Amino acid sequence: MTPAPLIDRFGRTIEYVRVSVTDRCDLRCSYCMPKGFTGYEEPEHWLSFAEWERLLGIMARLGTRRIRLTGGEPLLRRNLPELAAQIARLPGVEDVSLSTNGTQLAKHARALFDAGVRRLNVSLDSLRPERVAKINGRDVLGQVLEGLAAAGAAGFAPIKINTVAMAGVNDDEIDDLVAYCLERGYVLRLIETMPLGDTGRRAGFLDLQPVKTRLRQQFGLVDAVLPGGGPARYLAAPDGRFTVGFITPLSQHFCATCNRVRLAVDGTMYLCLGQEEKFEFRPLLRGGADDDDIVAALRLAIERKPERHEFREKPEKLIRFMSMTGG
Ligand code: 5AD
Ligand code: SF4
Repeated sequence: MTPAPLIDRFGRTIEYVRVSVTDRCDLRCSYCMPKGFTGYEEPEHWLSFAEWERLLGIMARLGTRRIRLTGGEPLLRRNLPELAAQIARLPGVEDVSLSTNGTQLAKHARALFDAGVRRLNVSLDSLRPERVAKINGRDVLGQVLEGLAAAGAAGFAPIKINTVAMAGVNDDEIDDLVAYCLERGYVLRLIETMPLGDTGRRAGFLDLQPVKTRLRQQFGLVDAVLPGGGPARYLAAPDGRFTVGFITPLSQHFCATCNRVRLAVDGTMYLCLGQEEKFEFRPLLRGGADDDDIVAALRLAIERKPERHEFREKPEKLIRFMSMTGG
């Protein structure tokens, strides 16, 4: 008998998990981890690949169909393509994707594709080296562009570019990024800064609604839907040659259709990006719990999923940095 799917108190079916395979990162984006941050998780607490495989395998039996590997920077976790392959083989899993900052992508693109990863999101906040240095902590533009080229050559399609849009920082570059992505067939996704930590609060929030209106007119774009598009709202050229997405947790929140949970590197499940509710799975995994215990724990955890974030009402609320749970 197929077990009942994971459905929360608000009727939302959970079928998507974002797994932060490491909380470490080789960059220090202004809106994410503060400079000099040292509060990393102990390596003994990182779930092993076998533990991930077990937990995600049980979730897949309960209806998880899509899994995204994220971080920190996921490619800093050694042998990540091996984990990706293990996950892609789990019965029920239809889609394994990766969010990366791109600095190590050139080295790993082929192995990731061979492991079964098909969808790739790469962060790129600017096309100007000095700005990349300022926003992301050092100038890695060349490496990231090499990574993107390698990903294209390996067969990834579509490749999505994630740009955190910040007032007074890179908002004057949106048209350049549109042109760049249009030329290469990348899907551009503009993201509003979320008040995660002081870093996120200070990043220069930019309301993307006016940007959306402007791009719609300027480039003659129409509303579009992308498969597996999640919370992004898309505009596309009528000939389908270009797509731009808007991730607008603040100006137009999408909590009512939230289908996801997040797992941190230590096996803690976070039920909402903007709230504290969580559930720890590591003690169960390491304490001899059988699969039925884990299924019961998953149902309890999902019961804790909050209705919505309160980024607008309580921006000062203390929430961990994005690097702990991944976007
Ligand atoms: N607000 C919005 N996006 C953020 N990211 C990291 N921190 C924040 C924040 N405070 C983005 C990264 C990456 C994605 C995983 O999350 O740039 O594109
Ligand atoms: Fe690293 Fe991503 Fe945070 Fe930037 S946003 S510091 S790339 S984890």
